[in-house]
Amino acid sequence: MTPQAAILEPIPAHARHLFFDLGLKSDPRDALRALGAACDGRSLVLGIGVGVAAALGREIPNLRGFPQLPQARPAIPVTQRALWLWLRGDDPGELLRRGHALTALAAPAFELVQAIDSFRYGDFLDLSGYEDGTENPQDEAAIEAAIAQGYGSGIDGSSFAAVQQWLHDFPAFDAMSRAEQDDLIGRERDSNEELDDAPESAHVKRTAQEDFEPEAFIVRRSMPWSAGVDAGLVFLAFGKSFDAFEMLLRRMTGHDDGIVDRLFDLTRPRTGDYFWCPPMGAEGADLAALGV
Ligand code: HEM
Repeated sequence: MTPQAAILEPIPAHARHLFFDLGLKSDPRDALRALGAACDGRSLVLGIGVGVAAALGREIPNLRGFPQLPQARPAIPVTQRALWLWLRGDDPGELLRRGHALTALAAPAFELVQAIDSFRYGDFLDLSGYEDGTENPQDEAAIEAAIAQGYGSGIDGSSFAAVQQWLHDFPAFDAMSRAEQDDLIGRERDSNEELDDAPESAHVKRTAQEDFEPEAFIVRRSMPWSAGVDAGLVFLAFGKSFDAFEMLLRRMTGHDDGIVDRLFDLTRPRTGDYFWCPPMGAEGADLAALGV
C-alpha cells in the first residue's frame, strides 16, 4: 500500500495543473500506460476521472463525478474532466516543458483542455494573506483521512482528490475592514489564532472538521494561482473517499442550516472536478484496478 507520496507532503514552491478530456474515438489504454510509467507520485501526481473508468468498463469503489448541487448558494460549477496531472517542482519553466512532454504522452486519447500555474505564497498563505492548511491532519491522521485502506490490492493506497479553481475578488476583499476579513475566515490574520467569537458564517466555522458526523477530515494541498490579472486559489483536497469534502462543501453552501460561508464574498469556484489517484506500484502508478 504505497500512496503517491506528494499527497502526504507539504506543497512545493511551484506546481502546474493540467486537465484533459477524453477523445471520443481513441482507446486510452496506451496513454494511461505511458502516463502511469511516468508517474513517480512526487514530481507528478496522476488523477483519473470517472469517465475513464467508465470507458474502460471498470468500477473503482467510491469513484464518482463532481456532484451537481442544485440547492447550493452560490452556484457551484461542475466541470468534471477525464484526467488530471499535478506537476510539482521548483522551476516553472521546467514544469511547463515537462507538461509538454506529458501532454504528448497523453495524446491522442486525451486532449489538454486547461492548464493552471500555481505557486506557494509566503509561509503557506492564501493570496488573502491568511495561512491555509493550518488544521490539516498530520502523520498517521493524514494517512487515515486521505488514503483508502481495506479494499484490497490496486485500491489500497489510493486517494480521492477534489480540485476546484477559485477566482478571488480582490477589490471586494480589500474594501473590507480587517475585522470583517477576520470574521470572514474566522481567524485573526496576523496571529493565525481562531477568533473566540467568530460568526457562524465564518469559513472555519462552516468547515470545522470535527463538527461533522462522521468527522470530515481532509488533507488540503491548495496553492495560489495567477494568470494575467486574474488570481485565486487552486483548492485541492485529498480524502479516503469524496464524502468528507462533499459534507464540507454542502455546509459551506447552506445545505445543513441555511447559513452560507462568508468565504464566497472573497472568492468563487470556476471549476469542480473529482479524480481517483491510484496507488504506486513497482514501476510507476498501479493501474491494475483499471485493467491497464
Ligand atoms: C478559495 C477557497 C478557499 C480559501 C481561500 C480557504 C481558506 C482557508 C483558511 C484561511 C483556513 C484557515 C486555516 C486552516 O486551517 O487551513 C481554512 C480552513 C479550512 N478550509 Fe478552507 N478555504 C477555501 C476553500 C475551502 C473548501 C472548498 C473547503 C472544503 C469543501 C475548505 C475546507 C476547509 C477546512 C476543512 C478547513 C479547516 C477547518 C477546521 O477544521 O478548523 N476550504 N480555509
